[in-house]
Amino acid sequence: MTEFTDLAALPQDFAWGTATSAYQIEGAVAEDGRSPSIWDTFSHTPGKIEGDDHGDVACDHYHRWREDIALMKRLGTNAYRLSVAWPRVVPGGDGAVNAKGLDFYDQLVDGLLDAGITPSVTVYHWDLPQALQDRGGWPERDTAHHLAAYASAVAERLGDRVKHWATLNEPLCSAWIGHLEGRMAPGATDLTAAVRASYHLLLGHGLAAGAIRAAAPGAQVGIVNNLSTVAPASDRDEDVAAARRMDGHTNRWWLDPVHGRGFPADMLEVYGVELPELPGDMETIAAPLDWLGLNYYFPAVVTDDPTGPAPFARQVERPGVPRTGMDWEIDANGIEALLLRLTDEYGARRLYVTENGSAYPDVVRADGSIDDRERAGYLEEHLAACARAVRKGAPLAGYFAWSLLDNFEWAYGYDKRFGLVHVDYATQRRTIKGSGHRYTDIIRAHREMR
Ligand code: NOJ
Repeated sequence: MTEFTDLAALPQDFAWGTATSAYQIEGAVAEDGRSPSIWDTFSHTPGKIEGDDHGDVACDHYHRWREDIALMKRLGTNAYRLSVAWPRVVPGGDGAVNAKGLDFYDQLVDGLLDAGITPSVTVYHWDLPQALQDRGGWPERDTAHHLAAYASAVAERLGDRVKHWATLNEPLCSAWIGHLEGRMAPGATDLTAAVRASYHLLLGHGLAAGAIRAAAPGAQVGIVNNLSTVAPASDRDEDVAAARRMDGHTNRWWLDPVHGRGFPADMLEVYGVELPELPGDMETIAAPLDWLGLNYYFPAVVTDDPTGPAPFARQVERPGVPRTGMDWEIDANGIEALLLRLTDEYGARRLYVTENGSAYPDVVRADGSIDDRERAGYLEEHLAACARAVRKGAPLAGYFAWSLLDNFEWAYGYDKRFGLVHVDYATQRRTIKGSGHRYTDIIRAHREMR
């Protein structure tokens, strides 16, 4: 990688991007008609978030977006993945559209295009309007229809300029972590609610895909999943079976239905929860996709855990394996394996790495610089693995580093920093880290290969 030789495999028109999401960076939670989302409620519930942090101000991107676009430009990126906040656009969850909420994204998109940066818009990155949660949230079917109506409003307003759309970000987290493990909003721990939420998220995906296409002809629509390679911790039969279940829970449950294969039968048995299926749903969920997004962070090595929550498999700690500041194992081969799996097993025709990155406890030096070699190393290793996947046939069209900025890392609060750009939260001062400069060098080297 040092010589950038691997990068030659990446297509000439590769999208070199960074990614963020609305609640993690915007702040301005009560401005211009925004209503509370489940993350406002959850983060203001004492004890739910590290240090009781919340997104009230975050990176103040709502007011500093011009500066943030300038940073993207300085980094040399040509693409940016953002999410739209549902509670800004349809504060009641359904019904009236708040034009002021859309004005923000309208300006942002214009600003990006003026800077030569192609926007990729994610419709739902976890910030469900609290008003809909009060009516049952994702375990209720209506929420899927409300998502589609909201998606339609966004696509109608931005679709003349935005071509690249994702319906959902990591529905696995919304369903399993939000409704089964309780570590994310809305904080439920109920398997039936979780399975129903997962079903309605995917139904919402299918309905929203249709709504976006209807409102914005020519839109390229995809879905963003966080997938993991899964391996058993030992060759015991119980661990091998546990790995199969974890693969179902993490990967197949989300990929099979959108590819017209239905929900995996083995997992229906594991969960033992009846799906709230109505005729025609499976066709809606399997709406044709223009692209698939992969968020990749770590591999899963699991052991049988009969007393734990579904899927009764638990990640093991492997001594000596390098880890990031999240305590997540580092294995760049995983991104290559998953890109190839999406290509070979699911016939993907266009792929994006919609997120990949690492958190480390950064040290700001006396001169203000941040020499985050570990993050730069993670970035390089994973890009090299992406290039290997491309050489082996994966149709990878772009890479979005998570994240442009340090930001609100959900239950971990502001303590975990994923940014290529450091944020001093007391002053909102932004400083490009060593990893950001490294990204710029890589992008430049790839451009110069033409
Ligand atoms: C995935 C999520 O989409 C994003 O919001 C989060 O910050 C990163 N992973 C890092 O955990």
